[in-house]
Amino acid sequence: EQQHEMLPRAPVVTVMGHVDHGKTSLLDYIRRARVAAGEAGGITQHIGAYHVDTPRGMITFLDTPGHAAFTQMRARGAKATDLVILVVAADDGVMPQTKEAIHHAKAAGVPLVVAMNKIDKPGANLERLKSELVAEEVVPEEFGGDSPFVPVSAKTGEGIDALLEQVLLQAEVLELTAPVESMAKGLVIEAKLDKGRGPVATVLVQSGTLKRGDVVLAGSTYGRVRAMLDEDGKTCTEAGPSIPVEIQGLTEVPQAGDEFMVLSDERRAREIATFRSGKYRDVKLAKQQA
Ligand code: GTP
Ligand code: NA
Ligand code: MG
Repeated sequence: EQQHEMLPRAPVVTVMGHVDHGKTSLLDYIRRARVAAGEAGGITQHIGAYHVDTPRGMITFLDTPGHAAFTQMRARGAKATDLVILVVAADDGVMPQTKEAIHHAKAAGVPLVVAMNKIDKPGANLERLKSELVAEEVVPEEFGGDSPFVPVSAKTGEGIDALLEQVLLQAEVLELTAPVESMAKGLVIEAKLDKGRGPVATVLVQSGTLKRGDVVLAGSTYGRVRAMLDEDGKTCTEAGPSIPVEIQGLTEVPQAGDEFMVLSDERRAREIATFRSGKYRDVKLAKQQA
């Protein structure tokens, strides 16, 4: 295989924390969107993927649910990421899924930036929050630790520029690069069967460039990318490193968390997918029985 030049890429940042501590609101403020308000019951139930151009560089965000039931999604988010923003409401403090998020970030070996959110609320108590986090071994830089702690409000926007600055500073240290010219590889973030469009998958490109018309092998399914939508639902024709994109054209729905790769040979992709799905065994058995 040909060697491809490595180029700088945007950090992938997963936003984690206890339910209702303000993860989606924070991203809404950053994106100037209003996702949180539209969520039934105010509970996020899936991973959202967005990339944002800030004046100091691009950042890709994965929004995760804080509800106790979604441990798998949080673990997946932590594995796909370069950095975690841990959102903790300053009026509520460290809660069970705060601890869980810390555990996922540590298990994945990724740095944490703490967003101490809801500082506009009268009950906010930053000193208490800091000591609760220190008890979980998340130690602010001011106490000799290595995690930036940034007070923010997703409601007023206070502190959000400083938070983005800390994220970009941490990312700079990681010197993130990826080949751009090679065939794409990455992760399936989410997948579903759409009534009209068939199997659709939100994928995060981690290296190379994914193009419309490419043959994709994703877990135990495959297909030719028939259409691509960016996170605003606009048609696009390619996606480079750190860019999330929704693809259509897979023959079946892949599993969230599956790795994907582009292959030059469609028949080969089908063979591998068939083998992985276990249908290969069924085909052989059927032949033997015939
Ligand atoms: P899940 O995804 O369900 O875990 O929740 P979340 O962490 O995404 O929280 P979400 O953004 O849904 O916010 C929960 C509630 O807190 C909403 O009513 C928000 O309006 C409110 N909220 C979020 N951030 C702030 C803040 O900084 N200040 C105040 N006053 N309210 C906030
Ligand atoms: Na919520
Ligand atoms: Mg949310």
